[in-house]
Amino acid sequence: MIHNEVLDCIRARRSTRQFQEQQIEAEHLEAILEAAIWAPSGGNNKSWLFTAIQNKDILSKINELVREGFQHWTPDDDYPGKLGAKASAQRKDYHFFYHAPTLIIASNRPNYENAMADCSLALENLFLAAHSLGLGSCYVNQLHWLRNDPELRNYLLELGIPKEHTICSTAAVGYSGKESNIPLRKDGTICIIK
Ligand SMILES: Cc1cc2nc3c(=O)[nH]c(=O)nc-3n(C[C@H](O)[C@H](O)[C@H](O)COP(=O)(O)O)c2cc1C
Repeated sequence: MIHNEVLDCIRARRSTRQFQEQQIEAEHLEAILEAAIWAPSGGNNKSWLFTAIQNKDILSKINELVREGFQHWTPDDDYPGKLGAKASAQRKDYHFFYHAPTLIIASNRPNYENAMADCSLALENLFLAAHSLGLGSCYVNQLHWLRNDPELRNYLLELGIPKEHTICSTAAVGYSGKESNIPLRKDGTICIIK
């Protein structure tokens, strides 16, 4: 197995689902956002926008709007994660981004075919950069699933996410509250043809 800083960082990054209350340093926020915008994008489109939210009241309001949004949301396919997400939104202690002190919303033009791909590649850059700085992170899908919820969308518009944009992917970021489990990698998902 080859070791270097990048490969070791890729292997060691884990999704964090328990965060400390302490906010991340401003220069770390800048560094991870900068890592995001160095990601490749289709045709160098870079039509994305990364909105980082650290205000506690705004974060609570987003969590509440997501909780409410799930009450009248019906999954459009049978992906089990969606039903699980809807069910867990009923819980009193529901918090879809695990009380992370920073939430980063990646949005993009909805009629651009590579919108999700570009934002997701950017978030992986951001996750790896976060890990390299001692931060935990997690991809959270709820804002994407509820991207057409009128109340949530209006609130995100108030926060400056343009109405011409759709919500693609979201990152929860903060200091890890506990070590994450290491999910096994699936065998048989690599094929080399020579
Ligand atoms: C497209 C996508 C959506 C995800 N959505 C969520 C989510 O909504 N909530 C969550 O806790 N984790 C979410 N995850 C994180 C995965 O559950 C996690 O990456 C996977 O279990 C492997 O764990 P690891 O990241 O620690 O290697 C998502 C990951 C991806 C790539």
